[in-house]
Amino acid sequence: MAFLVAARGRAAQTQALCRLAADKGLVYGTAIQAAQISGDRTFVDLVRQQTGLVVAENDMKWQCMNRGSPGDDDFSRADTVADFALENGLVLRGHNLLWYWRTPAWFSSLADRREQERAISERIRLLAGRYRGRVHSWDVVNEPIEPEDGRPDGLRTAVFLKALGPGYLDLAHRLAREADPSARLVVNEYDVEMDTPKHEARRDVLLALLQRMRASGTPVDAVGIQAHLSAVGGPPFSASRLRRFLADIAALDLTIQITELDVTDEHAPADIALRDGLVADTYRRFLDVALDEQAVKLVVTWGLSDRHSWIVRRETHESRWRGDGLASRPLPFDTDLQPKPAYEAIAQAFANAPRRAPG
Ligand code: XIL
Repeated sequence: MAFLVAARGRAAQTQALCRLAADKGLVYGTAIQAAQISGDRTFVDLVRQQTGLVVAENDMKWQCMNRGSPGDDDFSRADTVADFALENGLVLRGHNLLWYWRTPAWFSSLADRREQERAISERIRLLAGRYRGRVHSWDVVNEPIEPEDGRPDGLRTAVFLKALGPGYLDLAHRLAREADPSARLVVNEYDVEMDTPKHEARRDVLLALLQRMRASGTPVDAVGIQAHLSAVGGPPFSASRLRRFLADIAALDLTIQITELDVTDEHAPADIALRDGLVADTYRRFLDVALDEQAVKLVVTWGLSDRHSWIVRRETHESRWRGDGLASRPLPFDTDLQPKPAYEAIAQAFANAPRRAPG
């Protein structure tokens, strides 16, 4: 393995992914939780060694912070993640200001549009304001589109759109810009990577939304592509389709961030060597195309080690869990914090990537 540097008398050491990325003007990072920062020292050492950026996996989500009523939020876990970034010289991503799926239940029972607008404004001012000047980029509205909801503009109807109309997106972006003028404002989406009619429809809707935001002067700086991928049995991949999509985004003068990359192995064989190879191939195929586009500035994996992965924990997205009960292996390091073929694939993709201006 080319990126493993053997150290005599000690376990093999690995070249840091963040350094390989930085050589090309890229930032590499991971999702992390406050509980991991305070409770898993060896994992935290690996994060310090390998990454240049952290994002709170859950600790900055509204529902995760809120104690059950408007304005009553617990910032302690969010602070733990933000302080960890500051203390270690890591870039901090903000995830997220609004997300239909992690909005406190009381939001939908607020009396009227005015109250909802007030709640959104307070949320954005409080959270983005608290970390003003410290956040590289904010996911302002996470997952704003859902063509299957049937609107001509393809926007997701759940939670915010119902009372506020599509203007809630522009409002949220303006409030975020005001609260933290130096943070890049990101529209973060999933299922826009592959070659299926569904993904194509989602790409079209997302591009139309971005064009509309651009035309109306709504502040927006980047697109986040989540990239939760499957190694086997998932939708087909087309390098040319992905290439064109990334170029279309770049043509709007927006940068691109790969925000939640992981590769699940739900339909891969049980054999670990085979499985890890298939996962690594998927990382390689995707990143080789993505990193060719100079507008891509940042790559975040949704965790760093299989020790801490939402899929391994079996929290949501059951279709991504293995049916045979074996633990999934979606991330670059294994549960013992040893590098896997996926690490090698990511390292190689960074090494092969063209150099770009940081963004
Ligand atoms: C996931 C977390 O990883 C889980 O721990 C949690 O149970 C659910 O949310 N898209 C996103 C992320 O934008 O916030 C989600 O994170 C994964 C899908």
